[in-house]
Amino acid sequence: MRRRIYIKGMKGNPIGIFDSGSGGLTVLDTCRRLLPDENFVYVSDFRTGGWGNLSERQIGERAESCVKKLLEYDCKAIVAACNTATEVAISQLRSGFPVPFVGVEPALRPALKAYPDGKILVLCTPATARQQKFRALLRDAGSARVEVRPLPKLAARIESNLDKLDTLRDDAERSMDGADADAVVLGCTHYVFIRYMFEQLAGGAEHVFDGNDGVARRLQSILHEQGIAAPAGKMGQVIFDTI
Ligand code: DGL
Repeated sequence: MRRRIYIKGMKGNPIGIFDSGSGGLTVLDTCRRLLPDENFVYVSDFRTGGWGNLSERQIGERAESCVKKLLEYDCKAIVAACNTATEVAISQLRSGFPVPFVGVEPALRPALKAYPDGKILVLCTPATARQQKFRALLRDAGSARVEVRPLPKLAARIESNLDKLDTLRDDAERSMDGADADAVVLGCTHYVFIRYMFEQLAGGAEHVFDGNDGVARRLQSILHEQGIAAPAGKMGQVIFDTI
């Protein structure tokens, strides 16, 4: 059934955000801080239990289902708040659906800019680590040394311990074990929930990078370029749904 809840016209329509589970909530939070007047619909696929260990075909299908669900709400723009879905499926989504998309990618560029000769550790899901699109980012490493560490379990550990994140300290420590890195890139939106642990382990916030601010800024400029930003003055709402 079509949920046409926003009938004010394009500017008042919501922005869609999706992820495999709760990781995209960290992106939603950043976007809401920057764009408080916007309405959002957040769609997750929490029943599947994570996308990072699925095949490309499965990830593409799950991401498409999320987008179809968001379009039932007449979303005016969609954020793939998932590095895995962005790396695997953003081109397919852009060519399949007539709505602007913003994706999130491991924030390797800002890390390289801050530590051009340093050692950079990129933490991400196995599916992200094997994508060409992601591998292309590594070509800009210059004289920095970049280690990519695929983590098959960390996103699921975070997803199932959202109410007790502090118990994940060992998981965070193991993820960085022996890397001796100057900078850590959190290449999965779930990891942002425990960013505070990575900051402690890495020696401060300036050593940890995630893509969330970049996504919110990109979304803001798309809304302005296309003249579809919500009118100021009314606090936006959020609706949650699943596929
Ligand atoms: N939050 C996602 C990402 O940014 C997906 C994690 C997962 O489902 O394994 O990659």
